[in-house]
Amino acid sequence: MAEFAFNSFYELIIDDLINRKYCVTDTFFTVEEIDLLRTNLLIKQSLTTFKKAAVGPLSNEQIIEEVRGDFILWMDESSSDQIEKMYFNKINNFIHYINRTCYLGIQEGEFHYACYPEGTFYKRHLDVFHTDVRRTLSVVLYLNTPDWQPDNGGALALYLKDAAGCEKEELIHAQPGRLVIFDSKEIEHEVQMVYKPRYSITGWLKTR
Ligand code: OGA
Ligand code: MN
Repeated sequence: MAEFAFNSFYELIIDDLINRKYCVTDTFFTVEEIDLLRTNLLIKQSLTTFKKAAVGPLSNEQIIEEVRGDFILWMDESSSDQIEKMYFNKINNFIHYINRTCYLGIQEGEFHYACYPEGTFYKRHLDVFHTDVRRTLSVVLYLNTPDWQPDNGGALALYLKDAAGCEKEELIHAQPGRLVIFDSKEIEHEVQMVYKPRYSITGWLKTR
């Protein structure tokens, strides 16, 4: 078995996940890797049609414009796409680490590219469905262009509880390269109205 190597960067992420159920980091991927992933997404978007994203479990998907306006393309971990391989390698490394240190028992991941055109949003929701409770951690990576500004909209709002149990809203801007990980079962969230096309990879780390 490979020797266990302590990773101080992962430890910071894990501390945040334990202490406040979410974490935000801008350095999980390098600027070059983000450029590659963005270019890859844009090429895929020009070659294939992204699907209008639905709401609810696979067995009962519904497209509800008033809830969610993004277009998605599921990623395939077994594809030969070198840039996707790089993405999966980095994520899988992290999964192995948290499985060894946090006993979360993450078995698999599912990931899709997402594009929110101008004028779209995703209303407040939780990422677990009654019929699929395996989603444990939600992982969102923003692939917007380097000149992305907060007034382009599309901030991710996390609905948290303060020490007194009162709800507070934490706004996270969709800066390129930013990775947000949060507890899928606990944190309700929404994507605010988007004013410029907004690109990301969204995924879920799931237990068996
Ligand atoms: C989702 C979602 C958040 C984001 O796809 O379920 O909440 O910031 N995405 O894109
Ligand atoms: Mn969500």
